Formats: sequence, structure tokens, C-alpha cells
Amino acid sequence: MDHRAHPYRSVLYIPGSKDRALEKAKTLPVDAIIFDLEDAVAMDEKASARTLLADTLSAGGYGPRAQIVRINGFDTAWGAEDLDVIAAAKPQAILLPKVNSAADIGPLAERLDARPETADTTIWAMMETPLGIMNALEIAAGPRMAGFVMGTNDLAKDLGTRSRADREPLLTSLQLCLLAARAHELVCVDGVYNAFKDDDGLQRECDQGRDMGFDGKTLIHPAQVAIANAAFAPSEAEIDLARRQIAAFDDATAAGQGVAVVDGRIVENLHVETARATLAKAAAISKLESL
Ligand code: COA
Ligand code: MG
Repeated sequence: MDHRAHPYRSVLYIPGSKDRALEKAKTLPVDAIIFDLEDAVAMDEKASARTLLADTLSAGGYGPRAQIVRINGFDTAWGAEDLDVIAAAKPQAILLPKVNSAADIGPLAERLDARPETADTTIWAMMETPLGIMNALEIAAGPRMAGFVMGTNDLAKDLGTRSRADREPLLTSLQLCLLAARAHELVCVDGVYNAFKDDDGLQRECDQGRDMGFDGKTLIHPAQVAIANAAFAPSEAEIDLARRQIAAFDDATAAGQGVAVVDGRIVENLHVETARATLAKAAAISKLESL
């Protein structure tokens, strides 16, 4: 899978221990799933969750949804065995929690290099510690790196922030990770919205994340999927504008000019690149939804 061509509007966490949720996810219109062995799984279920998840992934049934497995850190009692067991299922991506620096990525890459089953497995990093945020650029440049997931709950805890609707206390961290992700062409998805019955609050946070440039949002409940899918997809108005910008620029170029005007605004080559990216994203979403 070309991770940059795949949409990541909705990225749903599923506790690896919950067989009903694992089953339900096969029917949900999510772009990606994070199968979790870390914080959503209780200590006494760690071992059973890992085998349930390996068997479930090997059996398949998740269609075109991108599949990411969040293992426990290698500094815990479970991380190494998580990778050993999950590797057999040829995971598309391994998500490493609490990444602090590039030194955390190298050892995982070496473990993946050492197994034929994980030859194509990419690495995603949870960005959720102050040290990790300060080292975002070197983490993004690490081997096999394909994505960042913002761990806003852990980050808020370590920073000592209060929870605010505008997320002002977290904006610097979010933007540092976006900058690093874009510098190295990684996917970058926003943190979860904890109040999973509050649709208005989720909508506001999705719109904010979309405005900032995130590819999508991590989610904790199926009821959050539709809002994220809509918020991170190009709107009809954006698609229409993109088409008109491309057409106007083509006309301008044919007339020997380098700049067009649409709706009273200039359109230069760089705007045409954005317009083409908007249409490509809309096409990728249509294709995914037709599978
Ligand atoms: N993924 C897939 N399916 C899910 C799901 C999820 N994250 N959360 C709930 N469901 C399913 C339930 O299994 C249930 O399916 P069923 O109708 O087949 O029984 C249905 O959706 C309705 O669930 P509901 O009763 O509303 O929720 P709940 O009370 O069972 O669970 C949570 C609520 C928050 C505990 C649960 O959504 C959850 O565990 N979310 C993930 C948390 C997580 O992964 N955290 C780590 C990252 S922050
Ligand atoms: Mg966390």
C-alpha cells in the first residue's frame, strides 16, 4: 500500500482484547484501524489479546482499511513478545508508543529487517511525550517511518495542561509534529476526542485539525466515524473550486500567461498543485468507498 495515496480521515482504535469490536470493525467505513495492545488492554489481558489479534489479522476480512498495530514499548514486559507474535500476521504497520527520539525507532526497524514476514511493514510513532515532540524532526527521518499519531491525552498529562475546547495549550506540539511529518512526507493524524457522545465538540475539533493540515483524526468509537470522514474529505465547494482553478490556469497558460484569476483571487502554479491534490484525494476516497 502506498501510504501517502491512501486516505486517513478516520483512524479507529480497537482494543485488541475485544472480539466484538474486532468483528464490528470489518463493517465500519473507516479508512484505517489501530489495533491496540497498549493502553486500551488491561495488564492481565495482554497475553490473550496479542494472540487473539494475531489470529484475527491472519484471518483477514478488513478489506481496504489500513491496518496498524500498536504494540507495547520495548521497555515494558510485553513489547518484544507483542512483535514476535504479531509479525506472523504480516502487519502493514507497527505503531510504537511513547517515542522519545530516533534512538527508539532504529531498534524496531532492525527487528523488522530481521524477519521476512515484516519486509514491507512500516513504522508509525505515537507523538505523546515532551521529549518526543522536541525530537519530532529526527523521529520523522527514521528508517521505515510512515506516520505520526498525536497522543494528546498523554501529552496533556505530561504538560499539565487543562482541557480546553480550543486546545490552545497543545497547538505548539501539534504544529511541531505536523512540520516534522510534512518535512519527511509522513502521514499525520490528530489525537482522539474523549467525549464520544458529544458530536458538536467532535465536529469542532475535526474542523480545527483539518484547518491545521492533519490527514485525519484518531477515533475511539464507531459513532465518531461519519463526522471525521466528512470533515477530512474535500467538500463539494472545494472540489468545484479546484476544477475551476485548473481550467482557468490552463486557459491562462494557453494564452501565454502565468497567472489566472478565479473568484477574485490569483491562481498560480502552486495553487494548481493544491487543486490537483484536492481532486486526487477526492478520487482516492471515492475509490476506497467503492471497494
Ligand atoms: N471499535 C470498534 N467497535 C467498537 C468500538 C471501537 N473502538 N467501540 C465500541 N464498539 C462497538 C461495540 O463493540 C458495540 O458493538 P456491538 O453492537 O456489536 O456490541 C458497539 O460498537 C456499540 O458500543 P457501545 O456500547 O456504544 O460502547 P461501549 O460502551 O461498549 O464502549 C468504549 C465504549 C469507549 C469503552 C469503547 O468504545 C472503547 O473501548 N473504545 C476504544 C478505546 C481505546 O482504544 N483507547 C485507546 C486509545 S485512546
Ligand atoms: Mg498514549
